[in-house]
Amino acid sequence: MSVAGKTNRARPDGARGGKADDAQTRALRERALSAMERAYAPYSDFLVGAALLGSDGSITEACNVENAAFPAGTCAERAALAAAIARGVRSFQVLTIATSAEEPTPPCGMCRQALIEFAPELEIVSITRNGKETRWRLSELLPHAFSPSSLDRSND
Ligand code: THU
Repeated sequence: MSVAGKTNRARPDGARGGKADDAQTRALRERALSAMERAYAPYSDFLVGAALLGSDGSITEACNVENAAFPAGTCAERAALAAAIARGVRSFQVLTIATSAEEPTPPCGMCRQALIEFAPELEIVSITRNGKETRWRLSELLPHAFSPSSLDRSND
């Protein structure tokens, strides 16, 4: 389906997260780590890169971009999500996050909410420069989420 033909609603076909093969896993790591090194984070010094594997096999990466007006800054995960949506991808299997922290970190609450709209069963892999790694399911990080079906007004 063309991008123009898509509805404006979230896609139920994005509901299933899934495993990446070895080549995809390596590509996700490389893309997340290289995006992290391009992060603009002069205020926090906390660099983040995020690489999203779409169900079509595409990878879209982004980094955090801070601002002197602090709330105008954006997280890497939501930047990657927005860029993927703009490319026409609305269903995702894996998110790899690379940060400059010593220990793997999970995505912030706002990013969890943004991601769950498109991929409730997303597999999240968080990595560090020193090779540490932690994995979660998005549904585990954000149980009882407010979702598109929460807006269902059929009982009105
Ligand atoms: N940050 C992200 O990019 N993703 C997260 O999930 C957590 C936080 C960014 C926002 C800010 O630029 C810096 O990391 C410190 O919070």
